[in-house]
Amino acid sequence: MLVTSKQMILSAQKNGYAVGCFNTSDLELTKAIIAAAVAQQAPVMVATSEKAIQFGGIAALAALIKEEAKNASVPVALHLDHGKSIHIVKECLDAGYTSVMFDGSELFLDKNTQMTAEAAKLAHERNVPCEGELGHLGKVGVSSNQLTNPDDVLEFVQKTEVDFLALSIGSSHGVGSDEKLEIELLKKINSLTKIPLVLHGGSGVPDGDIQKAISSGICKINIDTDIRHEFTKDLREILKEHPDEQDPREILAEVMQKVQTLVEKKIKLFGSNNKT
Ligand code: G3H
Ligand code: ZN
Repeated sequence: MLVTSKQMILSAQKNGYAVGCFNTSDLELTKAIIAAAVAQQAPVMVATSEKAIQFGGIAALAALIKEEAKNASVPVALHLDHGKSIHIVKECLDAGYTSVMFDGSELFLDKNTQMTAEAAKLAHERNVPCEGELGHLGKVGVSSNQLTNPDDVLEFVQKTEVDFLALSIGSSHGVGSDEKLEIELLKKINSLTKIPLVLHGGSGVPDGDIQKAISSGICKINIDTDIRHEFTKDLREILKEHPDEQDPREILAEVMQKVQTLVEKKIKLFGSNNKT
């Protein structure tokens, strides 16, 4: 069923697990993610970045994900990941997204606060929750992290009225060789506020750190790179194994199965299995 992300994340916070937020840009990944959630009886967030929206087209992508979500036996939220403009937030709300993120983490704090508040207000007018980001996650090999300053948290949360807060605590976007989480920083932030906390850059973070993060207050975890790597790796292997196969459906069905297996593994690691 298609739901907002609000209740599923509050339940995760209350019961000490994390909801998986998995990125898609197409039919195959969407089906694999939702099939994994159904197999594990887990609430799930299906996320599209601005790049995915550009790739698939917002109307087609939203229609596809909403349809798959409606037919699923588990709660599914359709989420805008890292929306960088008010325009994209509005477009997603108009297209029926049930969760949005405004990412002003590259802006000065004042501007981030002001624009995130604007995005949250728009989302709340539609009863849709909004996530904000404080601190900045770098991209492996491209840019560096700027850890969340705990002194900024309370004011940001109060002024923006966001529902969930994404932190920068050592993980990066992509798979890095040393994505160690700053658990003490996370614990400190978690002691300051009751807002559900979000870990981005989930790919490449050691499982032990993920578990510590969940027990220290993280209740939503974003995974993108691992899924894209799994898809492309499997696709290469399967094409190599079956050089004469001419039917894309045969090839893609195998790839989707492997992506589903990966997502199921993440769901179990996050402890969101059997939580519907
Ligand atoms: O917003 C998406 C995530 O933060 C994914 O990060 O590509 O490192 O898994 P990742
Ligand atoms: Zn992210």
